[in-house]
Amino acid sequence: MRLLVAFATTDGMTGLIAERISERIRLLGHSADLVNCRTLPSDFDPSRYDGFILGGSVHVGGYQHSLKRFISRYRENIVSKPNLFFSVCMAIASKNESEHVEAKRTAERFPRMLGWIPDRVEVFAGALMFSRYGMFRKPVMRAIAKKEMGEELDPSRDYIFTDWEAVDALVPRFLKRSAAPERPVPSSAPTHLPPAGLSPV
Ligand SMILES: Cc1cc2nc3c(=O)[nH]c(=O)nc-3n(C[C@H](O)[C@H](O)[C@H](O)COP(=O)(O)O)c2cc1C
Repeated sequence: MRLLVAFATTDGMTGLIAERISERIRLLGHSADLVNCRTLPSDFDPSRYDGFILGGSVHVGGYQHSLKRFISRYRENIVSKPNLFFSVCMAIASKNESEHVEAKRTAERFPRMLGWIPDRVEVFAGALMFSRYGMFRKPVMRAIAKKEMGEELDPSRDYIFTDWEAVDALVPRFLKRSAAPERPVPSSAPTHLPPAGLSPV
């Protein structure tokens, strides 16, 4: 099976998770192409793939433009094959349960807005990459971490909260479902497509 793992990232963490997913796919004897939605190869051809795993990260409640563009452009290819969307955020690591519910809702809502109902949606905790934050983001993210996680974090280092076992477990599940002989009718949501280029992320 040849799978596409496509991601969008702002600070790098979703790229690391996508890379890990690609490695697991290859370890299990399949082929995986890893692409950043912002820098697709000029000869990119979605019809080459037997399945699609797409991921993006939440920043101020929204996902990256490049990911929206990718889904809008290739939606018909995506829904015709086994597919999965994974969302990377920090709300899922909050001590407040209500934030977890909201993180899942955000992840479910995003692809639907673009006319895609994924076969499966996963939400992973991401990272706080203080080394990448400037003067503005550093104190803001530190304050949010204190409020949501009850922890005083050291802004001179990075923190990764990702559950790598959960990331690894996604792959065999996806492959097993993809190997099922019959694919149900493609899951395409009624499309009330917003114009290209939504919120700036
Ligand atoms: C400026 C900023 C805004 C963020 N906004 C949210 C948010 O609204 N909800 C959330 O759950 N996480 C939020 N996060 C956490 C990111 O989703 C998390 O850091 C993730 O690992 C980023 O992934 P990336 O490195 O692939 O961009 C925010 C992070 C930053 C730096």
